[in-house]
Amino acid sequence: MHDWWTDLDRLHGRVWDTLVKGVHVKRAAARHVAFATAGQTGGAEARMVVLRGADPAAGKLYVHTDTMSAKVAELRADPRATILVWDAQAHLQIRLKCEVGIDTGACVAPEWRRIPEPARRVYGNGEEPGQGMDCPEALTVTPDQSRFAVMTCTVREIDALHLGRDVHHRAQYSRSRNWQGRWVTP
Ligand SMILES: Cc1cc2nc3c(=O)[nH]c(=O)nc-3n(C[C@H](O)[C@H](O)[C@H](O)COP(=O)(O)O)c2cc1C
Repeated sequence: MHDWWTDLDRLHGRVWDTLVKGVHVKRAAARHVAFATAGQTGGAEARMVVLRGADPAAGKLYVHTDTMSAKVAELRADPRATILVWDAQAHLQIRLKCEVGIDTGACVAPEWRRIPEPARRVYGNGEEPGQGMDCPEALTVTPDQSRFAVMTCTVREIDALHLGRDVHHRAQYSRSRNWQGRWVTP
């Protein structure tokens, strides 16, 4: 549908369509998103993650991670995170301010069972991520479900920016205003 970026509700719908597509389509723009947290030594930390789930009705996104990664410690200290998407084809930037809950153990066993065996090796009995090592090829990891975490990102604020040829459209939506949008200067 043309000019979806000129209407606040259609732009909001497009944001969620983009996120849902990222979960289901490997080459979609929102498959890999930047995930930023407050660092523990000051400043921000950012890294790429895979979007594993998107629930537009609940306004929630889901990401898998290692319980021993720095981002988990950062989120335990401050649960706020920002997720950033750039859809180059749609000329659309999406910024999502979220509050992140971390689930581990029995309650994430169904997600763990759905992960193919080779992919489970990123959750293992090795050192925590970021430790020094002599030989990357020598690392052997036995999958360990206790290292697996699901991050549930409850979206609080959405900032959507569409870059047009002549006019840029930027809108903000917040959970506290029931996702009613407003235009802001780009
Ligand atoms: C394309 C791509 C996808 C990634 N997906 C994930 C992911 O879904 N979850 C994750 O924890 N790390 C993922 N990573 C690794 C992170 O970017 C990061 O290096 C790692 O999680 C350690 O980050 P931290 O020390 O800041 O916690 C991915 C990296 C790349 C390049």
